[in-house]
Amino acid sequence: MTENASSIDVVNPFASRFMRTRRAGPFAIVIFGATGDLTARKLVPALFNLYLDGFLPEPFSIVGFARRDWTSESFRNAMSKALDEFSRQGSPDEATKSKFLSHLKYVRGEFDQPEGFERLAATVRKNAIDQQRPLNLLFYLATPPSAFETITRNLNSVNLVSRQADDDNWTRVIVEKPFGHSLESTWQLNGTLHAAFREEQVYRIDHYLGKETVQNILVFRLGNSIFEPLWNRRYIDSIQITVAESIGIGNRAGYFDTAGMLRDMVQSHMMQVFTLIAMEPPAAFDPVAIRDEKAKVLRAVRLPDAEQLGDHVVRAQYTSGLVGGEEAPAYLQEPDVPSESETESYVALRLAVDNWRWSGVPFYLRTGKRLPKRVTDVAIVFKTPPHYIFDQSGCSDLAPNVLRLRIQPHEGISLSLGAKVPGQAVEITPVRMEFDYDTSFGQSSPEAYERLILDAITGDATLFARADEVEQAWRLIDHIRRHWHTLPLEQYAAGSWGPNGAEALVAREDRQWVRL
Ligand SMILES: NC(=O)c1ccc[n+]([C@@H]2O[C@H](COP(=O)([O-])OP(=O)(O)OC[C@H]3O[C@@H](n4cnc5c(N)ncnc54)[C@H](OP(=O)(O)O)[C@@H]3O)[C@@H](O)[C@H]2O)c1
Repeated sequence: MTENASSIDVVNPFASRFMRTRRAGPFAIVIFGATGDLTARKLVPALFNLYLDGFLPEPFSIVGFARRDWTSESFRNAMSKALDEFSRQGSPDEATKSKFLSHLKYVRGEFDQPEGFERLAATVRKNAIDQQRPLNLLFYLATPPSAFETITRNLNSVNLVSRQADDDNWTRVIVEKPFGHSLESTWQLNGTLHAAFREEQVYRIDHYLGKETVQNILVFRLGNSIFEPLWNRRYIDSIQITVAESIGIGNRAGYFDTAGMLRDMVQSHMMQVFTLIAMEPPAAFDPVAIRDEKAKVLRAVRLPDAEQLGDHVVRAQYTSGLVGGEEAPAYLQEPDVPSESETESYVALRLAVDNWRWSGVPFYLRTGKRLPKRVTDVAIVFKTPPHYIFDQSGCSDLAPNVLRLRIQPHEGISLSLGAKVPGQAVEITPVRMEFDYDTSFGQSSPEAYERLILDAITGDATLFARADEVEQAWRLIDHIRRHWHTLPLEQYAAGSWGPNGAEALVAREDRQWVRL
């Protein structure tokens, strides 16, 4: 085996396939914010691909709601163009596309005015009667969180919310992140949602959880008997989670400069990945068991006190530099960023989990913008063997085994092992066993939104964040933010892997960041 060696054969003599096949029952999805970017780029293309793959049998409806003066016809035209541009499987033929588009309807309305909601209620009720199906309703709030309260109040006032999550005539709601900007605002947001919906009806979407590799963390850990026995402090030295972006903040200064990387990225995507890696094995593959364990491990994270925070957290902002050979401006030179902004575009932190499994194992998390490439990667670094027998052969150093979970791009998993280089001497070099989703399965993975929307339609909340999980994550972030300005704001050149402090964070414990 050599570096970049053979892929794992997915078919072995004992192969069995576990499949949980699901298809939607009759339903209608109502998208609030239907003229927005998310609807065109992700939501309608995801529904189209589910339709193409046979997961959305008749009857169903897709109802768009927004302020713009569109009609159902102009909504269909706009979505037709969006499908040409953004559909994963392209658009096989015009007839299929037109048939799908015929399920789309548009209702014009303002979030804070009841008239639009009355039109909406009339439309979805008539539609259910015409299609002879129950009034199963999935609301998708593709809107800023500030709109949630008025939308839920108005939905209630036209009696479109039933407090049932399952059985016939169910109502569910998908909400987009950000799920608050602090623990207190999350309580308020959850309070708003719970005024209309039971928690079981609320699906907080984090598209990271819809990615194959993220879901595969659980399958990998708990569906293979060789890994779980090693998944603890006895065999694991440390764990690194990296979410690197090569882009800057684009035109999102208005949002990003008030949020920063800690709240925008660590609180959401990184905490989700962290919990799946660190949680205890759940007793069942169901939403309650899995989300109980995720919340539990977040409660076990030990927070450094204020005096030690600087040894555990690094914050930084990029200066100008070269990313992929192109000049990139400094953060402070990005459009609409205030000249004195101290918003971090990079965070590195060391988390400790106070439980039997992880006592003494550091979790290093780093995330930043304008890094050399876009990559999301989890590296599980194993301990080296307890007794080393090769030094008499002149081979003094052995690289640790590292299990890499590549979440994006090129979703896959690799395991590095030490192997003898052919020849007379005992020379050991790291080689890799690779598993790549695209080449192993020969078919493209569904988009994260496809998976998650189908889950919500079929009532499976496993991959959605529950209120207590989100609140626990905010408890950690709020603690760090309380002492945020006592930490130096470091700088790093755009196109580098981050500030010196991040190197020091791991070097202090005789470790280094994995190369990406
Ligand atoms: N875009 C993404 O990829 C992405 C990814 C993750 C999360 N999100 C989150 O998803 C949400 C939506 O994002 P987006 O990019 O689609 O936003 P957007 O392009 O700004 O769209 C906002 C939508 O809300 C509608 N709207 C706003 N105020 C309204 C009002 N008072 N009454 C009726 N309709 C109103 C707009 O309608 P009109 O334009 O017709 O006025 C538009 O359809 C945001 O909270 C964002 O944080 C987006």
